[in-house]
Parts: sequence; C-alpha cells; structure tokens
Amino acid sequence: MQQQVNKPDGTLSLQTIAMPADTNWSGDVFGGWIVSQMDLAGAIHAERFSKGRCATIAINQMSFLVPVKVGDVISCYTKILKVGSTSIQIQIEVWNSHDESRPAKQVTAGLFTFVAVDLEGKKRVIPESVKALF
Ligand SMILES: CC(C)(COP(=O)(O)OP(=O)(O)OC[C@H]1O[C@@H](n2cnc3c(N)ncnc32)[C@H](O)[C@@H]1OP(=O)(O)O)[C@@H](O)C(=O)NCCC(=O)NCCS
Repeated sequence: MQQQVNKPDGTLSLQTIAMPADTNWSGDVFGGWIVSQMDLAGAIHAERFSKGRCATIAINQMSFLVPVKVGDVISCYTKILKVGSTSIQIQIEVWNSHDESRPAKQVTAGLFTFVAVDLEGKKRVIPESVKALF
C-alpha cells in the first residue's frame, strides 16, 4: 500500500464534502466518517467489478495521515490488489482536493476486503469471466 505519494493511485470511486455534522468536538472530521466513505467507495468498485452485491469482511490496514476539516472535498481512489474465489482486496486512498490552487493532499489509506454475496447475503463465487478482467 502506497502512502504520501504525489498522485492518487486508482480509480475515483467516490467524492463528497465534509459537513459540520461529521466533526468531533475539536472541529476535525471523525475518523469513522472517513472510514465509512472509504467503505462506500470500495463497495462501489467491488460491486461494479464482481457484477453483484458485496459485503465488507475486513479492514486489514488503516492509517490517518492528516486531519480533514469541514468543507474539505474528499476523493476516494480505489484499486483492486487481489481477487480470490469470493473475495476482492482493495486499496483505498483518500485525498483532500478542496483547494484548487494547491495540489491535492493524501489524508488516509486503507486495505479493505469485500466478499461477493448473493441476494440472501451468502458468499458467491466470482465468475472466471469477471476475474479475467483483473
Ligand atoms: C461475507 C460473509 C457472507 C462471508 O462468509 P464466510 O463463510 O464468513 O466466508 P469465508 O470465511 O469463507 O471467507 C470468504 C472469503 O473472504 C476471505 N476472508 C475471510 N476473512 C478475512 C479477513 N479477515 N481478511 C481478509 N480476507 C478474509 C476468505 O479468505 C475468503 O476469500 P476467497 O473465497 O477469495 O478465498 C460473512 O462473513 C458475513 O456475512 N459477514 C458479515 C458482512 C457484513 O455484514 N459486513 C458489513 C460490516 S457491518
């Protein structure tokens, strides 16, 4: 997993703005809010890739590099690192791209694993035809 590089690595899967309701008592955005945005971004990528529903099974690694403030535009970049029989491991980077006059800054990175599931929530095998695209 790459951290503090100059450019985001992966596909832009989600972009949103940090709002006052997302902050703690010191005015910084809750880490949990950022993790939930990353989870959504990873799920979007995993579901598009596996052509169906996916559930988060693990967050294996997570680091917060700098705080996020209200009004910051955060961009979640996702990159599939590994595809198993039912699981998809995704690297997720979050970048703060609020200020157009300055280069975007990486705020966090994490390694998430999703499992392809059917409509009943049971794991499903990712088709070989889909895996071939990885
Ligand atoms: C997703 C779910 C259906 C998987 O069923 P399961 O019987 O537990 O699945 P398995 O233990 O066989 O693991 C499935 C895959 O995930 C991988 N996996 C399991 N635990 C893992 C972990 N801690 N880290 C990384 N990968 C993991 C397995 O290696 C396997 O991969 P593969 O099929 O590609 O080889 C089930 O665990 C579940 O419903 N979990 C809750 C999901 C959820 O609600 N997520 C939202 C969080 S609130």
